[in-house]
Amino acid sequence: MRIFLTMFAIVGAFATPTIPTAILDSYVLEQYSEKITQELEEQLSKQNDGRTLRCTREYGYSFFKLENGDRCYIPPPHFLQELGAHVCLALGEEPVVFTNIILSQYDEGFYLEPHVDVACDYRYKSSDFYFDEKVYGLVIDADTTGALYFVKWEGVGRPPLDLKPIYSLEEEAGVVFCLKDQLRHFPYFHGVSKVKNHRITLTFRTVSFEK
Ligand SMILES: [Fe+2]
Repeated sequence: MRIFLTMFAIVGAFATPTIPTAILDSYVLEQYSEKITQELEEQLSKQNDGRTLRCTREYGYSFFKLENGDRCYIPPPHFLQELGAHVCLALGEEPVVFTNIILSQYDEGFYLEPHVDVACDYRYKSSDFYFDEKVYGLVIDADTTGALYFVKWEGVGRPPLDLKPIYSLEEEAGVVFCLKDQLRHFPYFHGVSKVKNHRITLTFRTVSFEK
């Protein structure tokens, strides 16, 4: 018995970490699809710096403003909080009020560099804020090649864009996930592989400030 337990522990220690996923009931996504479409018709910000190419619309605190010390806050639309609660419940998690929500649109050739979301133990530029442990995501439109992937990188500086993923999310419309635990933290980085046609997602996070 002890041998089996030891073997189990050894295998467990070397197993590839993953994140919890679930799928939303299709009526939930249908219920919000018109409002999401309306948001996508608003002006989106294009991020294009050679390591990332995507269009976003951000609600609540703005990541880039926070990085510059600007704590301006515009409450996210109520329907996005409702949708965020559905995401939490689908994953068996307690709903929370999200203070940073990002609607991301990836068109042909778009991608997102591997990164670690700012965490209590991982800051950019000595930032005075971080995102709480649980980061949630919802795939609204899935793509055939572009998907969330994870790499492990313990080198100096930012990871190369062509590292082989250790794990990729199998995406389809309605897939939800909670980024937490091992894959939420250094040395694990997550990004989005190059999109062939079109990919739409929502990210739900809660901002905390250093006391
Ligand atoms: Fe991220």
